[in-house]
Amino acid sequence: MEYRIAGILLSEERLAERIREIGQQIGRDYAGKELVVIGILKGAVVFLSDLIRAVPPSVDISLDFMAVSSYGDSTKTSGIVRIVKDLDGSIKDKEVLIVEDIVDTGLTLSYLVKMMQERQPRSVRVCALLDKEERRKVHVDVDYRGFAIPDEFVVGYGLDYGGRWRHLPAIHTVAQQ
Ligand code: IMP
Ligand code: MG
Repeated sequence: MEYRIAGILLSEERLAERIREIGQQIGRDYAGKELVVIGILKGAVVFLSDLIRAVPPSVDISLDFMAVSSYGDSTKTSGIVRIVKDLDGSIKDKEVLIVEDIVDTGLTLSYLVKMMQERQPRSVRVCALLDKEERRKVHVDVDYRGFAIPDEFVVGYGLDYGGRWRHLPAIHTVAQQ
């Protein structure tokens, strides 16, 4: 099936405003602390790069990345999570914040949170830009959430369809050709 990008669901301005708020909130929660921010490749990179610049310098941030794949490139998540790239560093005794583009069924994040907890960090929290609540199959605590969105496939601002459209500055829905 062929798709094209359709209307804008979240504009650049709305994204920027919300991300500034989340950055301030993270600043209040982690002031004076070291925080390892873990970006989930590739979808979270655009969000993460704006988010970390919205966090005040009172938080001592370092970055690490993990790449996961949920088998296949379709608009449906299979639920099988494969680690394509693991973290470079240890998170033992560290404060950890996982940054993800979107929570859909919750399978990816619940798997990642469990996996991180086994490494004995001091704390693990989750920040997700988008949340499709209706689609949830397993519970995930999302500590910082950008927007709740309806059950529609979205692209842009890091999110892709088959690898495309990550570079769009706003979040768009897709429509059939
Ligand atoms: P979950 O495991 O079902 O929560 O799926 C999370 C992953 O599915 C995200 O990291 C995205 O890569 C992908 N995903 C889910 N919904 C969308 C969407 O609307 N657009 C783009 N990717 C999506
Ligand atoms: Mg993806």
